[in-house]
Amino acid sequence: MVNYKDLGLVNTKEMFAKAVKGGYAIPAFNFNTMEQMQAIIQAAVETKSPVIMQVSKGARNYANGTILRYMAQGAVEYAKELGMANPQIVLHLDHGDTFELCKDCIDNGFSSVMIDGSSKPYEENIALTKQVVEYAHAHGVTVEAELGVLAGVEDEVQAEESHYTKPEEVIDFATRTGCDSLAISIGTSHGAYKFKPEQCTRDPKTGKLVPPPLAFDVLHAIEKKLPGFPIVLHGSSSVPQDEVDTINAHGGKLPDAVGIPEEQLREASKSAVCKINIDSDSRLAMTAAIRKYFDENPSHFDPRQYLKPARENMKKMYIHKIVNVLGSDGKAE
Ligand code: G3H
Ligand code: 13P
Ligand code: ZN
Repeated sequence: MVNYKDLGLVNTKEMFAKAVKGGYAIPAFNFNTMEQMQAIIQAAVETKSPVIMQVSKGARNYANGTILRYMAQGAVEYAKELGMANPQIVLHLDHGDTFELCKDCIDNGFSSVMIDGSSKPYEENIALTKQVVEYAHAHGVTVEAELGVLAGVEDEVQAEESHYTKPEEVIDFATRTGCDSLAISIGTSHGAYKFKPEQCTRDPKTGKLVPPPLAFDVLHAIEKKLPGFPIVLHGSSSVPQDEVDTINAHGGKLPDAVGIPEEQLREASKSAVCKINIDSDSRLAMTAAIRKYFDENPSHFDPRQYLKPARENMKKMYIHKIVNVLGSDGKAE
């Protein structure tokens, strides 16, 4: 049994309360590799931001759960070494799908877990979430639950169509489960293809796809039902066009990739949305830098040569999100 406090991590309780009150959102960046972890911590330290480092089931399968836990502990020490006296770092399980997986993470140093019962019938989602909350709270660990379904295809997360969260269900759900935060569906989705071209319009000048707006009316209705309750947005990558263009210019093939416009995420951050999940943008930043490097340096084969610009490009993206989109800079000294 490893408690997250012994690793120097914090849970989300205080962090979310401050974010909701202060009108900003905490970045939740997925990580699978050392370079992602380093870039996340460098960005958090340079901007003095709290940060959630999150790990999916797929990440645990890829990198090994034990290694990721030690990386999170290393992340705290690294942040201190870079000059952050009191790092505000959460290690979070992203899209936990069983009680056993959540328990295993809680028993191994995670300070926050998500139990994603959103694909289950309502009462089953409540029962599973409640079971995780009871165990997690007994260990000081915070729990994110999900109501409503996001569209998109990831390794571990799949749904054909999105179903917006029903505002009339949220009070009952939050009260009966005791969850600490709630992920909702208002039109975001996972991956780099968030909308089909036929769901978008085209910018007449650039010919680029313009996605439909998020359902802010649903978000506001939920906020009214649960004033001050921490809300989470998944699937919030913006799929930057310059990274997609770099990938495509250097041998990649990502036609019609489209994400959530940053102005809308900026607006959401000012509301009760206090955690915004970003994974695909990190994948794109890493891939764009590596593709460009390989194209321009065909004789190089030392991984440090191409992973360094990849790490720098991810760090630049993380800093941009923190400062220009979520507004969490300066919120951790
Ligand atoms: O929401 C899913 C995250 O982007 C994690 O994706 O399951 O491929 O690691 P993954
Ligand atoms: P993106 O695919 O938009 O980055 O979403 C990531 C996510 O929601 C992780 O849970
Ligand atoms: Zn997600």
